[in-house]
Amino acid sequence: MALIELILWTALALGTATARHNSRQPNDSTPSRIVGGSDVPQGEYVPYQVSMQYRTRDGYAHFCGGSIIAPDRILTAAHCCDGMNVTRMSVVAGIRNLYDKGGSRSRVVSFVIHPDYRPLKTSDIAVLTIDPPLVYNNVSVAPIEFSSDTFVGGGVPVTLTGWGLRLPAPFPFLDNLNYPNTLQRMSYRTITNQECRERGMEDVTDTEICARGIFRGACSGDSGGPLVRDDNGLKQVGVVSYGLVVCGLFISPDVYTRVSTFRNWIQEGIANSK
Ligand SMILES: *[C@@H]1O[C@H](CO)[C@@H](O)[C@H](O)[C@H]1NC(C)=O
Ligand SMILES: *[C@@H]1O[C@H](CO)[C@@H](O)[C@H](O)[C@H]1NC(C)=O
Ligand SMILES: *[C@@H]1O[C@H](CO)[C@@H](O)[C@H](O)[C@H]1NC(C)=O
Repeated sequence: MALIELILWTALALGTATARHNSRQPNDSTPSRIVGGSDVPQGEYVPYQVSMQYRTRDGYAHFCGGSIIAPDRILTAAHCCDGMNVTRMSVVAGIRNLYDKGGSRSRVVSFVIHPDYRPLKTSDIAVLTIDPPLVYNNVSVAPIEFSSDTFVGGGVPVTLTGWGLRLPAPFPFLDNLNYPNTLQRMSYRTITNQECRERGMEDVTDTEICARGIFRGACSGDSGGPLVRDDNGLKQVGVVSYGLVVCGLFISPDVYTRVSTFRNWIQEGIANSK
């Protein structure tokens, strides 16, 4: 399986910001969004989903997803923060389309990356502190429950949302199709970590959870976003971490940070003041 090239799913198009990332970071020649999903319908919201955006010369660029875990705290992936300039980061909540006017933007005051974080290995998780705090309206802005200690095994239906690429590879002449700007939603199932390793993700540990579906998958730009399951209400079970360079391939599982492993660390991140 030495031919498999893994990639962290941060979005591209960050200009100068991209240059600081390691060689596995996507760039203009790599794809980026959910494959095999569909638009969240007009008038419907995924209230816990936020867009993480980076201020560039040309304005704001979406680069990662995140989820609301407290009015002033966002859960995301470590690789969405690592090496980033915090003064240029913000999150937008309460939107379905990246161009919606009705959302609210909060600046990122600080972020805490898990101390054990190692790219493409383990603990790809971070908590952001934002200001101003979000005001929940329970329609377009609401938190997601994350504190379950259930170890999720294989075969569990899960749902991913994100503003990621819809095609497994970008076609420059089909920009609107590649970058739909409307939040995408896709459901598939978890697989056991053993199966995930057998399917090529050799370094997967119990701090991670894998999911897989036919021609379905996450892509860069989905990084940091929430994988949820319905278990007496929606619970976040994963944070988008990494996968193959080409997204949504028949054979390739997606790797997520396993939220239940880190629930105590996340709770501390909420309790600690900046
Ligand atoms: C993008 O990735 C390709 C393939 O890894 C590499 O050849 C190219 O130099 C990269 N471009 C930039 C702008 O980093
Ligand atoms: C971070 O971004 C701000 C605003 O663009 C800039 O003034 C500052 O120099 C940057 N800091 C670093 C360490 O790049
Ligand atoms: C949203 O739900 C929370 C928890 O059920 C409740 O405390 C709050 O009042 C609700 N807010 C609105 C605007 O409905």
